[in-house]
Amino acid sequence: MAGNYRVAVIGGDGIGPEVINVALEVVEACGVKLDTHSYDLGAAHYLATGEVLPDKTLEELRSFDAIMLGAVGPPVGSTEVPDGLLERGLLLRLRFDLDLYVNLRPFIGTPGSIAEGHDIIVVRENTEGPYAGEGGWLRKGTVNEVATQGSVNTRFGVERCVRAAFDMALRRSESRVGGEGAKGGKEGGAKRPKVTLVHKTNVLTYAGDLWKRTFEMVAAGYPQVDRNYSHVDAACIYLVEDPGRFDVIVTDNLFGDILTDLAGALFGGIGVAASANLNLARTGPSLFEPVHGAAHDIAGTGRANPIAAIRSAAMMLDYLGEEEAAARINDAVLGYLAGTDSSNDSSAAGIDDQSATTAGITREIAGRLRRHQTVRDSRS
Ligand code: IPM
Ligand code: MN
Repeated sequence: MAGNYRVAVIGGDGIGPEVINVALEVVEACGVKLDTHSYDLGAAHYLATGEVLPDKTLEELRSFDAIMLGAVGPPVGSTEVPDGLLERGLLLRLRFDLDLYVNLRPFIGTPGSIAEGHDIIVVRENTEGPYAGEGGWLRKGTVNEVATQGSVNTRFGVERCVRAAFDMALRRSESRVGGEGAKGGKEGGAKRPKVTLVHKTNVLTYAGDLWKRTFEMVAAGYPQVDRNYSHVDAACIYLVEDPGRFDVIVTDNLFGDILTDLAGALFGGIGVAASANLNLARTGPSLFEPVHGAAHDIAGTGRANPIAAIRSAAMMLDYLGEEEAAARINDAVLGYLAGTDSSNDSSAAGIDDQSATTAGITREIAGRLRRHQTVRDSRS
């Protein structure tokens, strides 16, 4: 029987609550019971109360099995919320304080996308690098102003992230052997697992060297996994021109941020891009969120693409040990996408297909799962 998991839900702003509701409906349709508790956080909550993430809320969040987050942020162009306040005070605080040290971002090229048929995953370091917030000002506001912004790279932080990438490569190759053909990408099921380190070792010689040495050291323990290295600028070209050369990419926090927006655009749009912020040591809950933002312009129009949130919920189930339910959701999503052509608008969280709606996509995917569920129930 499916487990009962306690999940904190932060719908957030704009389309966040809509897409998260859909994701929860889809989880229910596949038969997994969630005990959800909603938290009101984000730009609107900040404007109403002055609160970003109260300490008490953060402490409560620690007790959940998982956290689902929609999107937070004010409308584009709004100046009411200071730049960086929600990013650093809410999203990054959750990543850092809950030690969500790996940001997993899988991409499967949708029909009609530039990377159609390709399947890669980016393992982004999620608690260090330039995001650590090292730096400061001197003589701020004067003509002699100095601003520095450092990048923090610890042997411990890099190593646990690189290890996660190699483990992920093994897991993916096992599922390719056991699973259906589509999982191996264009080349079919025979693809060997491979981890590519993406950095800029030719310029960032201190941090790059630490990453490279750690990568080689960890790789030595995984003889079954091929390894490769690519400078981040070149990796951008390869992602566009030859995505098949990648399987698992492991990279620094900021490179991972940029690379995954590019991958989003190439593999079907950020409206379908999912992510998992993982505390793989399991000392607290992990957090699952679509990569897209709040997209206030389409909030309430019924045109938000729920697929990124649905896939993020599947990543949550997988992480909670409901691998089979997660696989069913992913299959239902791929089944739905197989009948669409999403090539036209890759940069928005809205739906490309003019005839589709949030509710329609939800019905279609939840319907596939409920039919499957009914068959399973009648067999048991
Ligand atoms: C992302 C976002 C965040 C990041 C921002 C909102 C802090 O762009 O999740 O990719 O830079 O990590
Ligand atoms: Mn980003």
